[in-house]
Amino acid sequence: MTRQFLIAGNWKMNCGPADAAELLENLKKQKQELADVVDVLVCPPFVSLSMSVNYLHETDIQVGAQNLHFEDEGAYTGEVSARMIAESGCNYVIVGHSERRQYFGETDEIVNRKARKALEHRLAPVICVGESLDQRKNEKHHSVVEEQVKAALNEVGHSEVLDAVIAYEPIWAIGTGETATPGQAQEMHAHIRTILAEMYTDEIAASLRILYGGSMKPHNAEELLSQDDVDGGLIGGASLKAESFTEIITIAENLS
Ligand code: PGA
Repeated sequence: MTRQFLIAGNWKMNCGPADAAELLENLKKQKQELADVVDVLVCPPFVSLSMSVNYLHETDIQVGAQNLHFEDEGAYTGEVSARMIAESGCNYVIVGHSERRQYFGETDEIVNRKARKALEHRLAPVICVGESLDQRKNEKHHSVVEEQVKAALNEVGHSEVLDAVIAYEPIWAIGTGETATPGQAQEMHAHIRTILAEMYTDEIAASLRILYGGSMKPHNAEELLSQDDVDGGLIGGASLKAESFTEIITIAENLS
């Protein structure tokens, strides 16, 4: 089954509106000819979402948020809800990134509530899972990721899950310049697909996109994206430069 690649940029806490405008301007210039065979997504910080949606409205580049709260509204100072994100014109939201799990105490249960809330508001959650270096060294990576996937999708029904995207991001590869080998990525992606098949059906597992994230760069993207079960990338550092992000999109295009 061929799944269309999704190349997603996670800008993290970079690019307020002024820098976002410059990056998007360069991105639009670079990729005028691209993107119909590859889905492209950028995830700016909240303050740059609306301007990014406006800026990109005549392109097919999609915009997503990096986080959400699991309630619709109320006394949650500093938080942003799925409804607000959807109202800003976004179609995606990253959920359970390891930095949120690590620095902001997000548990599997919170990740699940956020994923379900995103789906309720027709936002595609990009659900991040991945093991630490210790867990990999102790051969726990398969069970850790299995638990994360099962917990994140708890009570997500067969029809809803079709909108979700899974991102496998080994923590030891994020922002470190160290990447999983294509073999390690493929092996974990296949494992995740097996878990999805057990939870849902073979067809659903085959159609869900599983992205790889963790130091994906132009020099290693081809090898990673060539793996059977790697359906795209969640890209941090290399998405902050239009040139490197476009290079990765072009690599995905050439593999499509
Ligand atoms: P990186 O970040 O590409 O800078 O490693 C990926 C991510 O955290 O989503």
